[in-house]
Amino acid sequence: MQAFTKKDILDMTSLSVEEMSLILDTAERMKEISERPVKKVPTLRGKTVILFFYEPSTRTRTSFDIAAKRLSADSISLSGSTSSMVKGETLLDTARNLEAMKPDIIVLRHSSSGAPYILAKSLKASIVNAGDGMHAHPSQSLLDMLTVREHRGKLKGLRISIIGDITHSRVARSNCVGFSKMGAHVTVCAPPTLIPKGMASSYGVHVTHQMKEAVADADVIMMLRIQKERQSGFFFPSEREYSRLYGLNREMMAYAKSDVLIMHPGPINRGLEISPEVADGPHSIILDQVTSGIAVRMAILYLVTGGA
Ligand code: CP
Repeated sequence: MQAFTKKDILDMTSLSVEEMSLILDTAERMKEISERPVKKVPTLRGKTVILFFYEPSTRTRTSFDIAAKRLSADSISLSGSTSSMVKGETLLDTARNLEAMKPDIIVLRHSSSGAPYILAKSLKASIVNAGDGMHAHPSQSLLDMLTVREHRGKLKGLRISIIGDITHSRVARSNCVGFSKMGAHVTVCAPPTLIPKGMASSYGVHVTHQMKEAVADADVIMMLRIQKERQSGFFFPSEREYSRLYGLNREMMAYAKSDVLIMHPGPINRGLEISPEVADGPHSIILDQVTSGIAVRMAILYLVTGGA
């Protein structure tokens, strides 16, 4: 078996196709552990994982915590608001103090793009990026790929439409890189104000502002929420207007392929970017994404600590 030699997982750009495939294959093997009556193996016994979340999270934080525990690692959670960063300590000083406690892995979510790179350069512990600003969310992209691969048996050649607030989305950026590298054809769709200029040339993706085109073409539709917490201006006239033009509802689903898969990284804003009947409908694999998240994060924790 091929060895995984990276100390850190920071983004999808720095992972090769072989490394992504190794993570997905390892995650596939890890899935079975979560189906057992006793959901625990001793693989990472004696290892310490610090979950340092400087931004809110339901899925990613819980998922990394469960993944660490299922592998018998000791996991410790620290949030920005309960750390000494509120007293003025810098991220790097906080991280150096955490490192002095000899963790093996620090999983970091931070509102500033690039924060995990500062830690990766300075610390011996493996750094796993759990989402940095608008930049990258590699474990989300990997779990999205695993979920699609399980449903379709492949990624190569599939048409993936990512629809919503592309500008502020680290999930969109990571998935544009990840899915494209794996041979899928990615389309991004939003109003012009919610797609960064140069997206097509920088990421090699197709850009459209026509929701019907993005829906009709797709094997997989990935909806994204409007990230109000990262927006400082007015990107569309009103939520009602946005929902009418770019919301995925029953009427819009009439243009989709009969076997289309509907995804969303969460959290969803029901009734804004996706209607309840689509989010909970027969095409939705949104909760499968969450289940895949545990296996992918088990694989990541295992591989960065030297497993293969
Ligand atoms: N998808 C995702 O990152 O969700 P959380 O913000 O809940 O972790």
